[in-house]
Amino acid sequence: MSAYRIPFNKPCLAGNEFRYIAEAIEQGQISGDGGFTQKCHALLEQQLHVHKALLTTSCTHALEMAALLLDIQPGDEVVVPSFTFVSTINAFVLRDARPVFIDIRPDTLNLDETQLERLITPHTKAIVPVHYAGVGCEMDVILDVAGRYGVAVVEDNAHGLFGKYKGKYLGTFGCLATQSFHETKNVTCGEGGALLINDPQYIERAEIIREKGTNRSRFFRGQVDKYTWVDLGSSYLPSDMLAAFLYAQLEAREQIQARRQRVWEYYYEHLQDWAKDHDVRLPIVPAHCEQPYHMFYLLMLSLEQRQALIAHLKARGILSVFHYLPLHLSAMGQQFGGKEGDCPVTEDISDRLLRLPFYNGLTEADQSCVVAAIIELDG
Ligand SMILES: Cc1ncc(COP(=O)(O)O)c(C=O)c1O
Repeated sequence: MSAYRIPFNKPCLAGNEFRYIAEAIEQGQISGDGGFTQKCHALLEQQLHVHKALLTTSCTHALEMAALLLDIQPGDEVVVPSFTFVSTINAFVLRDARPVFIDIRPDTLNLDETQLERLITPHTKAIVPVHYAGVGCEMDVILDVAGRYGVAVVEDNAHGLFGKYKGKYLGTFGCLATQSFHETKNVTCGEGGALLINDPQYIERAEIIREKGTNRSRFFRGQVDKYTWVDLGSSYLPSDMLAAFLYAQLEAREQIQARRQRVWEYYYEHLQDWAKDHDVRLPIVPAHCEQPYHMFYLLMLSLEQRQALIAHLKARGILSVFHYLPLHLSAMGQQFGGKEGDCPVTEDISDRLLRLPFYNGLTEADQSCVVAAIIELDG
């Protein structure tokens, strides 16, 4: 049981999870790449129009696969927003890449594409845009710069499943993209992820890397008569029981997305006036972006005001949370030369951002308590 009356996140069932897990067990295969994994792959490929989707044990692992697929070598540079989760860059640093931190735009909190070109060097191997809160980065500009310099684009789409940029699904722009099905995401199986492959040249090697560096997938398709060690790799495929849980959620994606839209719009409508009166900024979604309603955040005026609101809500049994600390100022980031002032927007936003409780089963009654508690903060 959560210590909070209204937690920040709560696992929510879509309906068929237990039935599908039982079916996976009855079918006699609960290791990876069973029937439900195949169903998840097919659903993601058809819905998103990607060449190949491969379930992974996490988005972190999908990013590690991307770093292996791009053959990242010591000294290669990878451009990444400082305002993101560690995995976005750790996956590449594991291959001895050097992170190059880019600041974010103050409106969408996505990487500031106008700063991209000046950060590209002959060593740049990849750009990893993160679609913060599922609102698309300026992919036209990012792809143009990447194309001109021959740099790969890997979208970290942990937040953005079913979001769109100019009518096209997020996760379909880079040669590779990664998804998260961690319990805080719209669609979940507790811990899980996916690698989306938009450039077919990576498909065969991705299957090998995901299967411990062996050609086991080709063996099961009858393409080779025994399987063996052929490349680098690890164990990146989830149990079919997790895929069964995930498939139940993916099948219910329309209901889940509609539910989350209502949650997001409730906050927006009921906090709009208060925000205006208190100089608090609500999320900005440009007209050419369709967001997947992943999160709702407030940008407070100061760190002190943000901390005061977190404490105020906590005293009323409501858990609100801050988000990423600037990566360039982390212990690891500083080892790579990161210092204060490198990414001023990130440093400022990180202090002031607060995320409100947001999950599929959040009721309007609970949301009205959250809103009332916020409004009562200073009378
Ligand atoms: C932008 C981003 N990328 C990657 C991850 C890692 O996801 P996972 O927990 O599935 O490894 C997260 C975690 O929430 C994230 O916010």
